[in-house]
Amino acid sequence: MTGMQDLTGGRELVMVSNRLPVDRVVAADGTTSWRTSPGGLVTAVEPIVEQLGCVWVGWAGSEDEHIEPFEIGRMRLEPVELSHDDVERYYEGFSNGTLWPLYHDVIAPPEYHRHWWDRYVKVNRRFAERVAETAAQGAVAWIHDYQLQLVPAMLRELRPDLTIGFFLHIPFPPRGLFEQLPWRRSIIQGLLGADVIGFQRVPDAISFRTIAERYTHTQALGNTMVLPATPDAPGRTVLAQEFPISIDAAAFAEVARRPETQQRAREIRAELGDPKTVMLGVDRLDYTKGIRHRLKAFDELLADDEIDASNIVLVQVASPSREQVDAYRQLRNEVELTVGRLNGERGTIGHSPLVYLHRGYSREEMVALYLAADVLLVTPLRDGMNLVAKEYVACREDEQGVLVLSEFAGAADELKDALLVNPHDIEGLKAAFLRATHMPQEEQRRRMQGMRRAVHDNDVEHWASAFLGSMTSISETRATAQAN
Ligand code: ADP
Ligand code: F6P
Repeated sequence: MTGMQDLTGGRELVMVSNRLPVDRVVAADGTTSWRTSPGGLVTAVEPIVEQLGCVWVGWAGSEDEHIEPFEIGRMRLEPVELSHDDVERYYEGFSNGTLWPLYHDVIAPPEYHRHWWDRYVKVNRRFAERVAETAAQGAVAWIHDYQLQLVPAMLRELRPDLTIGFFLHIPFPPRGLFEQLPWRRSIIQGLLGADVIGFQRVPDAISFRTIAERYTHTQALGNTMVLPATPDAPGRTVLAQEFPISIDAAAFAEVARRPETQQRAREIRAELGDPKTVMLGVDRLDYTKGIRHRLKAFDELLADDEIDASNIVLVQVASPSREQVDAYRQLRNEVELTVGRLNGERGTIGHSPLVYLHRGYSREEMVALYLAADVLLVTPLRDGMNLVAKEYVACREDEQGVLVLSEFAGAADELKDALLVNPHDIEGLKAAFLRATHMPQEEQRRRMQGMRRAVHDNDVEHWASAFLGSMTSISETRATAQAN
């Protein structure tokens, strides 16, 4: 990456997210180690801040543990402590039992509990106070994701000198769903504390602006929300628009180009028995990802002999996620039952058509998997962006491979040359899987070229430049206005 240094106009950058980029893991024998945190947020944001340098405020993933600030490369990490009770109520409860399902089309029923909300407010305040203590005068504070939606307003109150941005990595729901939330007005007011609010897709931003007009005294002028002056605060504006996130495409391509990665991809195919077709799914084990629907479609194709069980393998990588939340436990049980049943019924002594891997892998191994896969299945029922789809495309310099992509993933806005599917439509999924397995090389090339252009034109540097550029120009305009 180049040319990133000036994005904050020389101001300190403070990243704020629920998790730090690294998680502290305590093994059964009590020994501790650090590993990269799960999820797309870290994949996207880390390469940016490695370049820019930053202070990063977040949770280290362990309970009731005080950890002193420490440094990794150009990042200073400022751990925020969460107790066992905070994790239950703020993280597993309100963040992942209320907001996550509500913001993902209520695929699972959201639960509304006042004690969860109270703890969400308390932990958001802790994050805001920590940033307020840590940030340099006039710094740029960039707050991330649904776990911290109250932080922008809390932080503005504590530190009006900061420029504050907020980016929502997941979808923002339509008004009809958002209105279920008993604390809807507080969430909107919390977000409006920012100078810039970023969303993944245009409909997310439209929904937010409509709801903000309905529940606060603001008015939308295009992408800008106008907040009137109050007895306590002057009037101001908030930019609320889409900034679709991306990946460090060049970094993925570099790993894909290495001879050892390509050799590993060949080994993976050999270990799978050199089948004609390797299909791949890579997801956190999350009910939004459409894994059940995907496996059902695959199973039916095998059952009807539309694909040859002896000559195809679907590798489903499902990384462990939120394992204390009921809906996730239930999903894991269901998926693992399906894997056993499917292989039991459709496999042979020497060959299992479905390979299920419930663990995390290194970047190198993930890229080798992408290179080994003829078809990548990205079929979420709802997804903010889905970076896995972009990673696959970035790795395929051979311009081969087929991406089957849900129209309900943010990535579908840009990757229009994928085979777009409605994941609820099992017949449609089956047709797309079949079409993918039979797609001629020339069509694969044409589609992959289009998708590669999209990923390279809008890589994560482009995303960060657009977002931070908006924040910087707002703070410069404000400084000029104050000077006059
Ligand atoms: P989400 O943020 O909902 O998890 P994304 O698709 O946007 O979904 O991002 C997932 C990120 O996690 C990607 O960068 C992907 O490569 C990575 N990832 C997913 N599963 C694994 C795994 N088993 N091991 C290592 N990395 C993984
Ligand atoms: O945006 C998706 C996201 O929820 C991130 O906020 C988070 O870092 C990632 O998925 C993984 O989830 P969790 O932190 O709950 O393990």
